[in-house]
Amino acid sequence: MRFTAGTISFLALLSPVPSGLATSSKHATSSKGRASELQSPFSVVSSGQDNSTRRAACSKGRTSAFQECCVWFDVLDDIQENLFDGGTCNEEVHESLRVIDAPNIAGTRLTSLQLTFHDAIGFSPLLFRQLKFGGFGAGIHLSPYPRIKFRPMNRISPDGSIMHHSDIETNYAANNGVDEIIELQRPIAIAHRVSFGDFIQFAGAVGITNCPGAPSLEFLAGRFNFSFAAPDGLVPEPADSVDKIIARFADAGFSANEIVDLLGSPFDSTPGQFDSQFFIETLLTGTAFPGHGSHTGEVVSPLRGEFRLQSDFAFARDSRTACEWQSFITDHQAMTQKFHAAMSKLATLGQIRELLTDCSDVIPTASPLTKEPFLPAGKKLSDIQSACEATPFPTLTADSGPATTVPPVPH
Ligand SMILES: *[C@@H]1O[C@H](CO)[C@@H](O)[C@H](O)[C@H]1NC(C)=O
Ligand SMILES: *[C@@H]1O[C@H](CO)[C@@H](O)[C@H](O)[C@H]1NC(C)=O
Repeated sequence: MRFTAGTISFLALLSPVPSGLATSSKHATSSKGRASELQSPFSVVSSGQDNSTRRAACSKGRTSAFQECCVWFDVLDDIQENLFDGGTCNEEVHESLRVIDAPNIAGTRLTSLQLTFHDAIGFSPLLFRQLKFGGFGAGIHLSPYPRIKFRPMNRISPDGSIMHHSDIETNYAANNGVDEIIELQRPIAIAHRVSFGDFIQFAGAVGITNCPGAPSLEFLAGRFNFSFAAPDGLVPEPADSVDKIIARFADAGFSANEIVDLLGSPFDSTPGQFDSQFFIETLLTGTAFPGHGSHTGEVVSPLRGEFRLQSDFAFARDSRTACEWQSFITDHQAMTQKFHAAMSKLATLGQIRELLTDCSDVIPTASPLTKEPFLPAGKKLSDIQSACEATPFPTLTADSGPATTVPPVPH
């Protein structure tokens, strides 16, 4: 069903989400800048002091700062068992660290963290200003948030719209392939009575912690369980030019470097690790396509079996992003910190942090990486097409042994 603007306030009143919104002020901290930016159009009523020293007791002896976060431990158990094969860095997670992905390429499908992005990027202040978003003209609607009278509804994202409106949004070319992961996730979200928008972010955050080296992302709960379908054309595609992708992200509030920060990727020789190999291997001279020929948005890769997206190739070599790209190669800490920061921004686009509950203490911690960055076996530093003029390319040693190949990701 597609809702119209007129139905929204009624739906809002009729369907409160249990986690998060009922109690409001003790929650996510916000930076000063963000708070003042958000205060003017809305009146947020504060409900006074809160003591977070006593932790809420949740299932299996676990605790959280907030009682309403307890439900997420149960969701955690459920998805680790039933979505991530008992907590492994499996395919659901493997191909997941993508903001620009390969939906049209045979054999690839979108996974949980990709879904966080596809849901979140359906956000466009530009279309909103042009009154094109959601197909209606008025900007301000009655708000579903109990403490805020008016709220431009269609600027809230990620909002679960890709799951609420999968019948519409999965028809968009850039979302080709998302239906499978959505249908895997949807019944779990419904069973635990959590909002679709929260669930999508949570599953992505939990998923990557199954991969060694990944950061524990911030997770704020309390997104309203209502959304408008995002219009087509907002999700970047791998065949898009760097200019086009930068412009699309700029509309959503991200800099060119923040695009790179979001790009942790499994398209490298170590798909089970959250390491910097992706940033190294995208700079190697390409030689061949894996599998059977090329697909739209795909370019030749340097390793047998490795998959390379045109947009990754281009961002690695573009003067606007090449130095950020190269900086992650030997600085895993910067890579994870910037990924963490950019993901927090993505997860709260258009949301009001003060109205969300900080349930980050539910997110597990990944095991550490055990290997230093390296050149794949059979490659030399002269195979690197370094593009950052300001900084020399770091010295890396090549793995020994036969030339590295990338095995297919196990299902
Ligand atoms: C909450 O903390 C404040 C100061 O931090 C203290 O004065 C107050 O007694 C505490 N309230 C409760 C219920 O613990
Ligand atoms: C969220 O909305 C969907 C319909 O889009 C519904 O199926 C689900 O039960 C709702 N969840 C909650 C917690 O209200």
